[in-house]
Amino acid sequence: MARVPFIAGNWKMNLTVAEGVALVKELMPRVNGLGGVDIAVCPPATALHSVGEALADSEVALGAQDVFWADSGAFTGMLSPLMLLDVGCTYAIVGHSERRGRFGKPDESLSEEAARVFGDTDVSVNLKVKAVLEHKLIPIVCVGETLPEREAGRTDEIVGNQVQSCLAGLSAKQVSGLVLAYEPVWAIGTGRACEAPEANRVCGVIRSVVGDTFGADASKAVRIQYGGSVNEQNAHDLVSQPEIDGGLVGGASLDASKFSQIVQVASVIAKDMRYV
Ligand code: 13P
Repeated sequence: MARVPFIAGNWKMNLTVAEGVALVKELMPRVNGLGGVDIAVCPPATALHSVGEALADSEVALGAQDVFWADSGAFTGMLSPLMLLDVGCTYAIVGHSERRGRFGKPDESLSEEAARVFGDTDVSVNLKVKAVLEHKLIPIVCVGETLPEREAGRTDEIVGNQVQSCLAGLSAKQVSGLVLAYEPVWAIGTGRACEAPEANRVCGVIRSVVGDTFGADASKAVRIQYGGSVNEQNAHDLVSQPEIDGGLVGGASLDASKFSQIVQVASVIAKDMRYV
């Protein structure tokens, strides 16, 4: 079966509850009914409940930006998969590079140790992915190399290892239903998106790693988004690549017009080229 492209907006640490609700109220009429594309927004935790209510009965799904693996307990500051289900989430982003502490725009004033303050690793990401799947949420699992890693020619190795470690122990069926996001760290928030053919190539590498470990059916089914400076201008180039099944959009998702244009591009591509 053909893969349905998926455009998700990661709002990161932006927008109050009122601003988030206003944004989705502007967004919904622009994207509802387009067809051929899955859509989600991932607000900060404070806005999940209200934005989820505003999205009720729309075609825009709700996602969280992170999750913890336990159901409940003494884990100050964390949110469990059950809590995300409780506020209406369908998706949870897991292992974003900003949670792994590998910032796209390194802050020179921070020590290496401080810059890794959130501390996600492939091991914790793997625990989160498993917990999310157990509760029938869909994880959006982020992988991607830093600039020094790319410059050292290690992109495929780094990304391949991340995919293997983050998905370790899952079944082929579980992998078929999840979403991977290839987000080169150097392209995040920099306005410097990865060139579409290269993003396509790395997404192909990711797909073949999935195939090697989980089989051909999982590799054909798993959706792989590209993320990193996606905007309404470069979305067509990126999303029309055969290995790229949509985008994980940061900055441009904070603007209803820009985000809806990206969704529209994906819808047109889905209908014209590959999926219908
Ligand atoms: P930008 O689109 O702002 O580069 O952010 C990408 C990202 O990190 C999405 O998760």
